[in-house]
Amino acid sequence: MVWSLRELPELSEDEFQRWSQLLEDRTGIQIAPHQRAFLQTQIGGRMRELECDSYSHYLTQVVDGLQGMVEWSILVDRLVVKETSFFRHRPSIEFVRRLVQSRINNQALNGSFDVWSVGCATGEEPYALAMAINDCFELAALDPYFGVTATDISLQSLQKARKGLYHPRKVEQVTREERARYFIPADKELQVVEKIRDRVCFSHGNVLDVARMPRVMMDVIFCQNLLIYFRRWRRREVLNALVDRLKPNGVLIVGLGEITDWTNPKIKRVADDEIQAYVRLPEA
Ligand SMILES: C[S@@+](CC[C@H](N)C(=O)[O-])C[C@H]1O[C@@H](n2cnc3c(N)ncnc32)[C@H](O)[C@@H]1O
Repeated sequence: MVWSLRELPELSEDEFQRWSQLLEDRTGIQIAPHQRAFLQTQIGGRMRELECDSYSHYLTQVVDGLQGMVEWSILVDRLVVKETSFFRHRPSIEFVRRLVQSRINNQALNGSFDVWSVGCATGEEPYALAMAINDCFELAALDPYFGVTATDISLQSLQKARKGLYHPRKVEQVTREERARYFIPADKELQVVEKIRDRVCFSHGNVLDVARMPRVMMDVIFCQNLLIYFRRWRRREVLNALVDRLKPNGVLIVGLGEITDWTNPKIKRVADDEIQAYVRLPEA
């Protein structure tokens, strides 16, 4: 029988434990027992391609040396949830727009306005941020002095993001005006215009490694729909590390309700029920 049609054995309890532990140790993502079928399908799919029929042998391949690192980068892309969209949470993006506008109006832009999209998936989030910020600079007839750093653990997502090419259906959340300003037809797809693509720098990054990343300070850190997959203690740990990357008065924006039991003496919650944002206190 051809390999692609072969039925793989069930993932045993012990194998499930070992695989889910590996995923959590390396990405922070917690797999619940009811997601065993998901884990089995994703790992099994890759094992079929490699003509491997043992979850344990495949695990050894994944953790073994340089080749293991390459294999892990292929597998992790299949294990993460990459769902995203342009302007997924409008109120959060509009908050960033108002922040930039007020900095421009108050001449409080000290150098470049720097934004970080953490867990950027296929690019819709950082591009939407760049579009909203660009609007502000254009409206004020100023040179666009801003940059968006966009990081993700999935190399395949980043590859797609860099191209900035999207199926027209993916661009439906964008207003007609935004579509006209920021997308150009490219064959059967739509491409984000070059001036926006040039503002976004995509790079590979694991949010668990923030403390080891270069200490570039940010005006805005946007981290949505990523921490929900993490245990609560880990969410708090990641957020504390992100706070240390904020400039004074910089803002950390998470998804609404993604963290409920976290405080940090260096920040203050923004009084706005539609968003969950925290400002870094200037003296902290
Ligand atoms: C559901 S998507 C959210 C995308 C976007 N932030 C949004 O809200 O639409 C989650 C993204 O987080 C990424 N991710 C998961 N674990 C990660 C980690 N440890 N470090 C960096 N990115 C991670 C995934 O690859 C995926 O692209």
